[in-house]
Amino acid sequence: MKKLPLILALDTSCDETAAAVTNGTTVLSNVIASQAELHRPYGGVFPTIAKQAHKENIDRTIALAMKRARITIDQLDAIAVTQGPGLAPALEVGITKAKELAREFKKPLVAVNHIEAHVLSPLAIRNSQVISAESFHPPMNVLSLVISGGHSEFILIKEVGSYQRLGWTIDDAAGECLDKVGRMLDLGYPAGPVIEQFAKKGDAKAYQFPLPMTLSGDYNLSFSGMKTHSRNLIEKLTADGHALTAQETYDFCASFQRAVFRHLTYKLEKVLLDHPEITAVYLGGGVAANRQLRKALRETLKKSGRGLRLHVPYSNRLCGDNAAMIGVVAHFKFQRGETVKDLDQLDRQPRWAIS
Ligand code: KG4
Ligand code: ZN
Repeated sequence: MKKLPLILALDTSCDETAAAVTNGTTVLSNVIASQAELHRPYGGVFPTIAKQAHKENIDRTIALAMKRARITIDQLDAIAVTQGPGLAPALEVGITKAKELAREFKKPLVAVNHIEAHVLSPLAIRNSQVISAESFHPPMNVLSLVISGGHSEFILIKEVGSYQRLGWTIDDAAGECLDKVGRMLDLGYPAGPVIEQFAKKGDAKAYQFPLPMTLSGDYNLSFSGMKTHSRNLIEKLTADGHALTAQETYDFCASFQRAVFRHLTYKLEKVLLDHPEITAVYLGGGVAANRQLRKALRETLKKSGRGLRLHVPYSNRLCGDNAAMIGVVAHFKFQRGETVKDLDQLDRQPRWAIS
């Protein structure tokens, strides 16, 4: 059997310092040093703080990833790193470290697009899971939904390495909207997981929310109207000076979360109607961890009557930012010989779109 490449992958695109070791698409280790605590007072990611924290954490994170994978650097076939998109100062830390390692240990370097990594994250497999090369079916005409704090996109995977972006958000990302409205409700940062928990105790029909972009005729998304609607609604509910009761907060979370997901499923339905070639649907990104979102998407797929399956990453640690997904993409690029030819020329691409 052909030996699959052993890759050390790094991701410092936002507020997680992440390192992982992959063997083909198998994840041997997946270490994530979260900075959420540091950014909590700001209710979002503060780029210079992110850069400093990445610098402080990167060596420890790599050492732990190597140790957990029981691998030494000389056994590696390549180093991989996120080149973009992401916060420029944050990306720089991972790229500088990756170049340093590639030079010192004379390893090829693979530069990876962070969105492509979220797209292919459902392909990652657990170390304990045995899957033969023969049973692997590469995705062809698969629709990917990347729903995170920085992105909300519908991407058609024609095949691995060939993508068409069908739709994207024209303003905020879904996760960003959840976080911003969560901040209005004092739910802390990131608010997405808290909203998911509170929504379970609430009535999703308690409050009305608009369904945006129904007449746009495209597959694009928009979450800023929902944010404004939320602000107005909270102001109205608290106009007499009383704070929201616990039940009002739960009902608000349930109604608001339902509205965010309805917007996604409405557009998903439209994409499916216009694209009969789609064979399956992948879901990736931080918001993909949400069980209610998965349920809503599965219901939409069932309604389409085409037997389409929803594939999600095997663990929540592969939904939010992580380096294992970077290793998965690097595996395919390495097999195709797509390594960085001149390390000096490799620069961050903070706005790198996928297609
Ligand atoms: O993929 P990610 O870690 O970072 C970006 O690349 O943006 O996504 C982070 C986002 C945050 O907005 C967070 O609130 C959201 O994912 N998130 C969730 C859940 N877990 C994380 N949103 C809804 N439900 C969750 N369980
Ligand atoms: Zn991400």
